[in-house]
Amino acid sequence: MIEDDAPAVTWDDRDSPRSALYGDVYFSSEDGLAESRAVFLAGCRLPQAWAARARFTVAELGFGTGLNIVALIDLWRRGRAPGAHLSVFSVEAHPIAAADAARALARWPELADVAQAILAQWPRRARGFHRIDLPQWGVSIDIAIMEALEALQAWSGAADAWFLDGFSPALNPAMWRRELLALAAARSAPGARAASFTVAGQVRRDLQAAGFSVERAPGFGRKRRRLEAVLPGDPAAGMPGPRVAIIGAGIAGASLARAFTALGAETLVIDAAGAGAGASGGPAALAAARLDAGLAANAGLFAQGLARARDLYASTPGAILARGAEQSRVGPKDAARFAAIAGSDLFEPGAMALSPAGLRMETALVVEPASVLRAWLGEMRRGAVERLERDETGWRLLDGAGATIARADVVCLAAGMDCARLAPGLPLHPVRGQASIADGLAWREAKLFGAYVLPTRTGLLFGATHDRDDTDIAPREADHVRNRQALAAALPELAAELADKPLGAWTGIRATTRDYLPLAGAVPGAGPGLFVLGGLGSRGFTLAPLLAEHVAATALAVPSPLPRPLAELVDPARFERRARRRGRA
Ligand SMILES: Cc1cc2nc3c(=O)[nH]c(=O)nc-3n(C[C@H](O)[C@H](O)[C@H](O)COP(=O)(O)OP(=O)(O)OC[C@H]3O[C@@H](n4cnc5c(N)ncnc54)[C@H](O)[C@@H]3O)c2cc1C
Ligand SMILES: C[S@@+](CC[C@H](N)C(=O)[O-])C[C@H]1O[C@@H](n2cnc3c(N)ncnc32)[C@H](O)[C@@H]1O
Repeated sequence: MIEDDAPAVTWDDRDSPRSALYGDVYFSSEDGLAESRAVFLAGCRLPQAWAARARFTVAELGFGTGLNIVALIDLWRRGRAPGAHLSVFSVEAHPIAAADAARALARWPELADVAQAILAQWPRRARGFHRIDLPQWGVSIDIAIMEALEALQAWSGAADAWFLDGFSPALNPAMWRRELLALAAARSAPGARAASFTVAGQVRRDLQAAGFSVERAPGFGRKRRRLEAVLPGDPAAGMPGPRVAIIGAGIAGASLARAFTALGAETLVIDAAGAGAGASGGPAALAAARLDAGLAANAGLFAQGLARARDLYASTPGAILARGAEQSRVGPKDAARFAAIAGSDLFEPGAMALSPAGLRMETALVVEPASVLRAWLGEMRRGAVERLERDETGWRLLDGAGATIARADVVCLAAGMDCARLAPGLPLHPVRGQASIADGLAWREAKLFGAYVLPTRTGLLFGATHDRDDTDIAPREADHVRNRQALAAALPELAAELADKPLGAWTGIRATTRDYLPLAGAVPGAGPGLFVLGGLGSRGFTLAPLLAEHVAATALAVPSPLPRPLAELVDPARFERRARRRGRA
């Protein structure tokens, strides 16, 4: 459980931070930065180890004040190759308050800009992976806010360097458990190095048992020795600058373009009918956690998806139309479900609060799809992709006449229902939806009551209908009637105000799956380089930004921001895997 309050930090007479929980210092009070550089950066042979590498991954046990990572990024930014990307993964079960970290880091003005950039995106107090983006230096950081063993089990990356920095083994043996060090070795790239301030015998023996060669090097300051370790093997070169083609310019395609670009890849988005021509073309969309998930495994997916979407929309000009949403109780189980959600550590304190009507979702957002697509899509080309072909030079995207629209090393399907035609076998089902739009009203808040009402830039929208296996997108008067009825049952005054107002329609075809979770990952059985982000159902604006980062990371072989259990929930191969398991049983 992640505590609601940050753990207490005490300050010694040199204003160095110390953990009240563990009774140990976060870093040397003599000169923490010099110690960090000598023990961890030099101990992992940085910067030499990343010379000539397009992508490099550093993992850390114990994020603490962030000093090691700030020092790491300071070194990286001064010498990185153009276009190179650094992925950082760190683990922290007891995140300190940003104000404490700011005080700890303030003593090194030379690091102020890196420290400030990290402090501005300081992890929330919610269990899960938290991403910090530093595109100005080609860096992304995932911090796992959870117990270290669970974090390493959930991480799918492979580190080139490890900073083992979990307080002294005597005061915190849990951070140096044999199974944890074995897991660190399992989550390492060939030739990975590990560094630590401790040379405790048990730590050395357990690292050796995990496959590391371990040495004691001359220590820093008053410490006589520090630890350096290395795994056998040579690091892989990595795919340099793949050509990435994305089919579809809805929220899935736009999120993919953004995510690949952030990793330094060039993208081309191809759409048959232009940005937002499919289901992502409405005037407003809700991004919110899925409450019917309760606190089941998939609730974590929606919680992390929303947290990531919020950060990305917040830095997208014009994207946010309104903040917060009020969810009314609609079923007999809602009161208990909402109470459990309000108390869950999947959400930061205050994000979910019980209210007289039901649940106030403080962190939900209403976004303007067009603003998001405009900002994220990047280079686009018009074209209807009829089929895909693969040869030894990569993928070819062909139109109906057999002409090549584009060639690519990596292709991502983000074409709504058409994903299932381009990659036959993808298990998608259409669900038609129509929302009703009224202009000229001042309506500022999102309300959910089975259906919803959202503010738009010029009024509001309400609805929407859900009709399975219906693929006709022509607006229907009968659907406006259904939307008005649902509104009248929950908000009779608003429904009466709208009674004689003319309504516009936003219709679209949602692509859904049997288990109502998206498809995000490699297309099963398609050969290398073909990925899908689809099946987003009614939740594209909550889930696409995070899942696109998962797909881009998988395609470029860099660590995914999605914990393994959540990646399995959205793995496009899950249905086949489950069928095989049932067959065996
Ligand atoms: C009425 C309604 C209300 C909704 N409200 C919300 C909401 O409030 N919040 C929310 O999160 N979600 C909402 N949804 C769901 C949301 O719209 C979808 O989850 C999301 O739009 C899916 O995005 P996508 O990018 O996967 O697909 P789409 O937006 O459908 O994009 C697919 C794109 O692919 C292109 N394309 C298709 N085939 C080809 C091809 N062969 N070659 C080239 N291009 C091709 C299309 O032209 C289209 O632009 C709503 C949906 C509807 C219908
Ligand atoms: C020495 S401090 C890390 C210092 C940090 N690297 C820095 O640069 O400030 C160790 C950190 O590990 C965290 N920690 C201790 N035990 C943990 C565990 N079992 N799982 C996850 N984090 C843990 C502590 O909360 C603390 O922040």
